[in-house]
Amino acid sequence: MILAIEAVLCATRAFTSGACFKYGSGNFSIFEYRVEALEAIYGQVSSSSLSGEVDSAVLENIVLAALQVPDHKHVGLWRFLTISGDARQNLGALYARAKLTEDSSLGSSALEKIRNKPLRAPLIVVVCVTKRAKVSEVERLLSTGAVKQNMLLAAYAQGVGAKWRVGSMAYSRVVCDGLGLAEKEKIAGFLYLGENDSNVESKELIDPGKYVTAWTAD
Ligand SMILES: Cc1cc2nc3c(=O)[nH]c(=O)nc-3n(C[C@H](O)[C@H](O)[C@H](O)COP(=O)(O)O)c2cc1C
Repeated sequence: MILAIEAVLCATRAFTSGACFKYGSGNFSIFEYRVEALEAIYGQVSSSSLSGEVDSAVLENIVLAALQVPDHKHVGLWRFLTISGDARQNLGALYARAKLTEDSSLGSSALEKIRNKPLRAPLIVVVCVTKRAKVSEVERLLSTGAVKQNMLLAAYAQGVGAKWRVGSMAYSRVVCDGLGLAEKEKIAGFLYLGENDSNVESKELIDPGKYVTAWTAD
């Protein structure tokens, strides 16, 4: 019954607000967490203090949002690795191994710090991007930036805290190999996700007046 009602609502919304989407074998709609697009863009704030859990439906929406960005002819430039629970410790161990390869003299406290980095959030999504002959480097970069932003906005729109991190570990071959990346794949970034531990302060909007000039021929 509920499904039938949702289907009717979906069909209605498809012609009215456009808040119903085709996905997989059916339609789904966004009801509870609806945030206006501009509100999300203006309000999105990154968060470093993350804990709790991330619901699988929330994660699915984040990845869905990522995949809707324009890429070159939809060739499929990305894949996503999710790392949570004890796997975060395994990632920490991989980081430590990578750092030791770079500098074998690293002390135990420095190594401990590196090992703990993945514990800063309950869920990490590693965004991997693949080189494709048809897509130039600049197009790949532009599309991947859009992926990052869509993921942050989708997290914010669902009330989930997020932070995009890159850092030196993203460029380490030891880390890429340990995560099973192919030779032509790169890590674009690590999206840290979780519940916000505290109220995140809203940021001041940048005044467009300083950046926009009306040009005339005179
Ligand atoms: C490409 C890129 C890489 C980043 N890498 C890191 C990082 O490794 N560590 C970090 O603390 N912040 C990093 N940041 C900054 C945060 O993701 C975030 O943009 C910053 O904290 C500003 O937060 P805001 O989203 O609230 O404006 C990176 C940002 C970008 C765009």
